Parts: sequence; structure tokens; C-alpha cells
Amino acid sequence: MTKEHDTNATGQVALVIGGGRGIGAAVVEAFARCGAQVVAADTDRLPSTFNHYRSTAVTGFTEARELAAKLTADGLDVSAAEVDATNEDAVRRLYQEIADGPGRLDTVVNAFGVTHVSPVERMELAEFRHVVSGNLDGVFLSSREALPLLRASGGGSIVNFSSVSGRSGFAKVSHYCAAKFGVVGFTAALAQEVAKENIRVNAVCPGIVRSNMWRYLLSEFVRPGETEDECWERMRTMVPQREFQTPDDIAGLVLYLASARRVTGQAISVDGGMSAP
Ligand SMILES: NC(=O)c1ccc[n+]([C@@H]2O[C@H](COP(=O)([O-])OP(=O)(O)OC[C@H]3O[C@@H](n4cnc5c(N)ncnc54)[C@H](O)[C@@H]3O)[C@@H](O)[C@H]2O)c1
Repeated sequence: MTKEHDTNATGQVALVIGGGRGIGAAVVEAFARCGAQVVAADTDRLPSTFNHYRSTAVTGFTEARELAAKLTADGLDVSAAEVDATNEDAVRRLYQEIADGPGRLDTVVNAFGVTHVSPVERMELAEFRHVVSGNLDGVFLSSREALPLLRASGGGSIVNFSSVSGRSGFAKVSHYCAAKFGVVGFTAALAQEVAKENIRVNAVCPGIVRSNMWRYLLSEFVRPGETEDECWERMRTMVPQREFQTPDDIAGLVLYLASARRVTGQAISVDGGMSAP
């Protein structure tokens, strides 16, 4: 491995928002195993029920604390923090805690997100707004608050979560697609703004990872008379490689982006070829 792609993160601080479960939890573990001090931030309360948990009560922060306890017992440096990424004051408080605590920041991973299924004609404005804001507001708020800390640390990396739905449109998730295309645009624009300051901004675009999010999507997409296993097989045919991605597949790209010194403003897919032109 060349110095440019050195994944030894000893002495570095990484913040993963949405780090309590799913892909974010794999990212937390990957950074911790590379030697970073990691803050896994998440929430137990979402701002609306327009999400794939079908509830405002979730367990992200509770799971972040459990993850931190498990990895700390393994000798790794992981702590949990509570934040609703769509709440401006809460995001400010989180970054203040990092400034007051670890006192530096090298990598921010905005790994949170929500989805919901509804055709456009039956979608309320409230649903459209909540799904867009649940994926996009926090990317803006977290990136904005991160910049002073990254700058003070001599530069660093922001990795935002887009999706295969940020490269192609999919029926019944128009709000989610609008937001994830938006993440790609925001990422490219911010990368231009801060490129001279050694702050890099990139996006990752997962395809199908069998997390809580996709278990919900499957329950919505299953056809009458079809079993869930049959529906998974139908989804598999959407992937040219005929394999779903794992949280570790995505975490591998995030680690690469955190250390790839000449890569900025990019949106990179890990989707088994789903978005290949
Ligand atoms: N699973 C997939 O196939 C897939 C595909 C493409 C993109 N993505 C994206 O990857 C990211 C991770 O998704 P996942 O599949 O791991 O989902 P997940 O639901 O398993 O995990 C998402 C985590 O984000 C947290 N979260 C959601 N909204 C939050 C908020 N406002 N503030 C703080 N935390 C919040 C949740 O509590 C949860 O812990 C999301 O951005 C998602 O859109 C996932």
C-alpha cells in the first residue's frame, strides 16, 4: 500500500453519523480496527414516521452505545454520541463535544439516511419533505459544522452517503432519489469550495445491502403470491454481479476515500454494476 492510500489511522479521529447500525456500524468498526479514535453518533428518535422503520422511535443511539461497548472491550477506541442529523442545534452540539473532547477531526462519514415507498401521485408534501430532509439536511449541517475542525486539524475527509438511487431513478422512491442525487451535487460543490484547504469531499453510492433499509423495501416490493426469498431473488437479478453488497464492501470504499489524497468531488458506486453505463 502506498503512502497516499495508507489506511493506518492511528492518532486520527473519525466521526460516523448513522454509526449505530447497518452500513454505518461496519464503517465505525473498520476505522477503529485501523487505529482511529471513532465517535459513533446516532439517534433513538427520528423527526417523522416517513422512514423505513415506520416509527419515530428507533434504536440507533442505543445500538451505537452497544457497539462502542463491544469494540472497547476488544481494545478499540470507540465512543457513542446522540444526534439527530436533521436538527441544527443537535449537530452543533455534537461538533462542540468533539472539539471539547478529542479536540481534532480527520474524517466525517455521513452514513445516516431514511427511505419510504410511495408513488408520486399518492405522496403528501410532508412525506416528500421529510424524506428529502432526512437524507440531505444532515449532510449539509454535518459538513458545515465539520469544516472548522477539519481545517484546524490540517485538513481531512468528508464522505457522504448517496446511493444507486443517486445515479438512476427508481419508481416509488422519487423523494429518496431526489435527495440522493442532491447528495452527489452537494458533495461536488463543497469539494470545489474547500479543495485548496486539503479537505476532500466524496460520496459513496451503495447498491443493495441487506440492512434494515432493504428489509423494509422488500416488504413493500414483494408481489402477491411471492415469498420474501423469491422477491430477494428477483432483486438479485437487478445486480449484474448477481450478488448483494455487504456493509464491509461499502466500509472498504469509505476507508479508501478517507485516505486517497488526490480524490475529491467524486461519487463512487459499490453496486455490483447496477449503475454501469
Ligand atoms: N442498504 C442499502 O442497500 C443502501 C443502498 C444505497 C444507499 N444506502 C444508504 O446507506 C446509508 C446507510 O443505510 P443502511 O442501509 O445502513 O440503513 P440502516 O437503517 O440500517 O442504518 C441507518 C442508520 O442511520 C440512522 N439515522 C437515520 N436518520 C438519522 C438522523 N436523522 N440522525 C442520526 N442518525 C440517523 C439510523 O438510526 C440507523 O442507525 C443511508 O444513507 C442509506 O440511504 C443504503
